[in-house]
Amino acid sequence: MKLSRILSNQNGVSRKQANRLIAAGLATVNGQVCTDAATEVDRFASVVVEGKTLQAGEPAIYLMLHKPAGYLSATEDDEHPTVMELLAPDLRPGLHIAGRLDRASTGLLILTNDGLWSRRLTEPRIKLPKIYRVSTAYPISPETAQRFAEGIWFNYEQLRTSPARLESLAATEARLTIYEGRYHQVKRMFHAVGNRVTALHREQMGAIRLDATLPPGAYRPLSRQETAGVSE
Ligand code: URA
Repeated sequence: MKLSRILSNQNGVSRKQANRLIAAGLATVNGQVCTDAATEVDRFASVVVEGKTLQAGEPAIYLMLHKPAGYLSATEDDEHPTVMELLAPDLRPGLHIAGRLDRASTGLLILTNDGLWSRRLTEPRIKLPKIYRVSTAYPISPETAQRFAEGIWFNYEQLRTSPARLESLAATEARLTIYEGRYHQVKRMFHAVGNRVTALHREQMGAIRLDATLPPGAYRPLSRQETAGVSE
């Protein structure tokens, strides 16, 4: 919502009066004077006018979880445990998952209550790299890297995946960087080249790397630097 609208809604002044107060430098957003009435202010920002708090600002939550195998990337499920159950109950309300992992997959999972921020992590259009360590049932054929670099045709979506980078680590082990996060994307890419994924571990999303000190099932808040890397 625009700053001028917050002032006129919460402070009982006209839009014109709100614009005047803002232009006079009497409004702060997150403690900084803001003189642009058109500034977009989200629900996480605090807004104060002439010493009166119009909006306290909800706490924004950004967490990284080391997802263990066997947990569903969902907020609730009747059959399987969900990743939410790994979090302290008071943290759970309002959180969503920014880029799911399959039940058997492990590694970096990001949870937040900030939908605008998380969209930047998951929107295929933004092409943020996601890095996976992959184990396969059969040796990875030499042409796999080239096929992935050219993009794999996904019939269901009628699209070609963005060029992906495959780094071979062993006969049946590789590190794969993809730039979208489509449904079962990694499994479907290997299936398209006649192979099968047996284990999948997400190491990184954008500049956010899974913290090596977090054991499976543990989580921590993202640092300011980690969250800032996504918003740039
Ligand atoms: N691609 C998959 O196939 N599964 C995941 O869990 C993540 C990416």
